[in-house]
Amino acid sequence: MSAPNKSYDPVEVEALKPEEIERMRDEAVAAIAAATDLEALREVKVAHTGDRSPLALANREIGALPPHAKADAGKRVGQARGAVNKALKARQEELEAERDARVLVEEAVDVTLPYDRRPAGARHPMTSFADRIADVFAALGYRVAEGPEVETEWFNFDALNFPPDHPAREMQDTFFVERDGVADSGVVLRTHTSPVQIRSLIGQEPPVYVICPGRVYRTDELDATHTPVFTQVELLAVDEGLTMADLKGTLDHMVQALFGEGMRTRLRPNFFPFTEPSAEMDMVCYVCRGESVGNPDRPCRTCSSEGWIELGGCGMVNPRVLTACGVDPEKYSGFAFGFGIERMLMFRHDIEDMRDIVEGDVRFTLPFGMEI
Ligand code: DAH
Repeated sequence: MSAPNKSYDPVEVEALKPEEIERMRDEAVAAIAAATDLEALREVKVAHTGDRSPLALANREIGALPPHAKADAGKRVGQARGAVNKALKARQEELEAERDARVLVEEAVDVTLPYDRRPAGARHPMTSFADRIADVFAALGYRVAEGPEVETEWFNFDALNFPPDHPAREMQDTFFVERDGVADSGVVLRTHTSPVQIRSLIGQEPPVYVICPGRVYRTDELDATHTPVFTQVELLAVDEGLTMADLKGTLDHMVQALFGEGMRTRLRPNFFPFTEPSAEMDMVCYVCRGESVGNPDRPCRTCSSEGWIELGGCGMVNPRVLTACGVDPEKYSGFAFGFGIERMLMFRHDIEDMRDIVEGDVRFTLPFGMEI
């Protein structure tokens, strides 16, 4: 603050010159108008009306003026401060009204929205497809059977007529379960669902008609066509007088029930220790229906234009398996098959990469009718 000075004239005190006071007022009013929210306005208020603001400082200078000049300077500073306060109040009201309107919109509760929508999830397509296969056979009088995924070598290999050193054991690369530090513990992760055949036959007098979907394990790397954990469906029918014709008829029924009218199957000779004779079962390509064969204009990547897709193995139950299970092979005969369900799902829905099935991304499941 300047010292009292009798000759002081507000016009000459820099801060109290009328243009200076007007400039301070105009600057303050402009800053107020430019504040776009309440926070900015708070800052403008401190800068232009606070203790260190130009107008407050100018106001202090008044005290140093001679009495005759005080009234005039006081009046002008007072008017300027009044104008600033008025502008502040008006802008404050404006910004508050804007905020209230925005909050009303942003925080509005739409009471017409459904209140009970929770992502319901859905069964994985593999689960529903496996169930569907089981349903087809349940309708034919088959029972759904289950077995453990951690299985003894006896059930997984020996009882199924895999000789101890037979290369057939290596057809399926096996995970062995270590027990008490012993690697060769005689326990494996089942490599196929065929051990359920044994479990279903032991201690039960035929007729036996079972269907068994379940997980199996092999030491494959995960890639577009392999996965170390996959799903098979096994079927076993043991009764008096069953023949390969019954097997063929059952397979045809299955592919028609699962893939539609007119689907056909064919059998090609193969070898499995637990069936004799054994066959590989193909069905007509679900995608091109055989029309790509010899037709270069319509190539089919699903069947490589061969017209057939391989589904899995089947055959007549080897009498040695029946004997191992205490079933009289003179009296009874049977047929069996085992297919990979992921492969079937891939053909059916034109899925190119098996990883999509196992990775569990909901975007894969959504088109199958999952509700979220
Ligand atoms: N268990 C065989 C596999 O995983 C598939 C199989 C072939 C099952 C012939 C059968 C059968 O029941 O009869 O490779």
